[in-house]
Amino acid sequence: MNWQKNVRGKVRSGELLCSHTSFKIGGPARFFVEPKDEDDLKCLIIQLKRDKIPFLIIGAGSNLLVHDAGIKKAVIHLSASRFKHIRFFSESVEAGAATPLSSLVRAAAKKGLSGIEFLIGIPGTLGAGLVMNAGISEKAVGKAAVLRAIGDTVVWVRVMDRNGRIKILQKKEIRFGYRHSGLSHYIVLGAKLKLKKAAASEVEGKIREYISYRRQSQDYSFPSAGCIFKNPAGHSAGKLIDMCGLKGAQRGGACISKKHANFILNCKNAKARDVIALMALMKRSVRHRFKITLEPEIKLWN
Ligand code: EPU
Repeated sequence: MNWQKNVRGKVRSGELLCSHTSFKIGGPARFFVEPKDEDDLKCLIIQLKRDKIPFLIIGAGSNLLVHDAGIKKAVIHLSASRFKHIRFFSESVEAGAATPLSSLVRAAAKKGLSGIEFLIGIPGTLGAGLVMNAGISEKAVGKAAVLRAIGDTVVWVRVMDRNGRIKILQKKEIRFGYRHSGLSHYIVLGAKLKLKKAAASEVEGKIREYISYRRQSQDYSFPSAGCIFKNPAGHSAGKLIDMCGLKGAQRGGACISKKHANFILNCKNAKARDVIALMALMKRSVRHRFKITLEPEIKLWN
């Protein structure tokens, strides 16, 4: 296949995706490609389209369950330094899609810029965070119960469409919703976020508060993909699953966290099928007891 020779970045066949997901689960990808820059990416997707090879984009793999048999697609990973730039302005920041969210928050704090502290501890990249409109519930830090999400801070997002054309989408064109955005058909290249000036010590204080809440409520004892299900309107999925008595339930090497019932942990060489079996149990139990249908927050690749 000629396209592999034309890519300036790295191309691997059969790369195991368990080393690219926070769950540490997942079989091989047909191709795993790390383009060098935007031109390389454009050239790559045009050739994949020509050769009828479907592709998926992977960020930090933190919200993803990959099937044990792997996937017969190309997986594109934007890991090159060209996709990780950060540039500050007086009250905003422009950053590349591969920038880890926590690094962006810390860099902003050092510049005395506030507004994205709630993203600290989310183990994803800016690109993935935008696609799924990552965020938290403000009640977490003792304030009024409001959802805060990265979409609220967006000025614009720079994307490449599936034909290699680059566009700038303004916030109002994107339709951000709860753990959802209108970006899923694009490859996110970067974004500009609105920030505001604040004393560095104040920003650092807020970051510490968010970190402390995450440590006390989330389970970091084994690999996981964060919350498995979205919160149904007006409810916490974790609380509903907990009320079904499912904390600690196990299937193969996977178990439901005893700390937060919306977390599935890879306790011992779990397979994707173990996680899927637990998800089915959680969904069935919540539907039976509360007549509420849980919707997955994580993506399943198979
Ligand atoms: N609760 C239980 N049992 C549990 C889990 C929670 O009783 O097993 C109770 C808690 O005690 C609390 C309430 O349910 O009274 C809400 O729990 P929590 O504050 O942990 O928030 P959540 O609604 O379960 C959401 C996000 C989390 C985010 C937290 C904090 C979703 C699906 N989850 O969880 O995000 O960390 O708020 O802001 O939106 C994620 O997206 O991966 C994630 C973990």
